[in-house]
Amino acid sequence: MDTTNTAQPATMPRIGEKAPAFKAVTTQGDIDFPKQYEGSWVILFSHPADFTPVCTSEFMTFASMQDQFEKANCKLVGLSVDGLYSHIAWLRTIKEKIEYKGMKNVEVTFPLIEDITMEIAKAYGMIQPGESSTKAVRAVFVIDPKGIVRTMLYYPLSLGRNFAELYRIVVGLKTADAFSVALPADWQPGDDVIVPTAGSCGVAKERMEAKDLHCYDWFFCTKKLGKDDVLGKVLKK
Ligand code: BEZ
Repeated sequence: MDTTNTAQPATMPRIGEKAPAFKAVTTQGDIDFPKQYEGSWVILFSHPADFTPVCTSEFMTFASMQDQFEKANCKLVGLSVDGLYSHIAWLRTIKEKIEYKGMKNVEVTFPLIEDITMEIAKAYGMIQPGESSTKAVRAVFVIDPKGIVRTMLYYPLSLGRNFAELYRIVVGLKTADAFSVALPADWQPGDDVIVPTAGSCGVAKERMEAKDLHCYDWFFCTKKLGKDDVLGKVLKK
């Protein structure tokens, strides 16, 4: 059956705006999103279907990194358009039967939302033209402690996500906020960071002469920011 959806998604969230609010049933009880996550970072992510191989590999990977995300004050919330009993059966199967890349007995303790009506999936643009009309794509929303969407990623059905990159995004956004800097390509904690671009000729001249900066040109200056300084600020003690 061809499930290609040629209609445009009804809505898409945007970076810098409030995450669309909803109440939902999950494998961990009811949630009020993003209200009950105020004060924490959240990764809200969708997957196409329970009992599918890519999704299973993703859930096992995410669940095994949950402590790492917790230390960054980041909670995980999954969603698919399957029902609650399917979710429960799938998560039980993962725990009881699946051994994958050294991960076994993996318990998914973060909430997995049931979205049979697709209301949430539609509000977040998770149902995408060109992919399935009945399944959510692999969408990821990184939402800050004030409920603002800070990053959005959309992957197709056929490609599993890179969870190390999702962790890097959370640590990177927290670092950029905490130190008022920007982060260059492939930045990792301990790498040099970018200072805000000079807004006047005087500042541009000072920048070029400053001893603690490395300026590739007046508009592109970096400074050192130690790994311990970053992790001390963005991770829980
Ligand atoms: C998967 O997770 O394996 C999958 C889900 C939907 C379509 C294709 C693959």
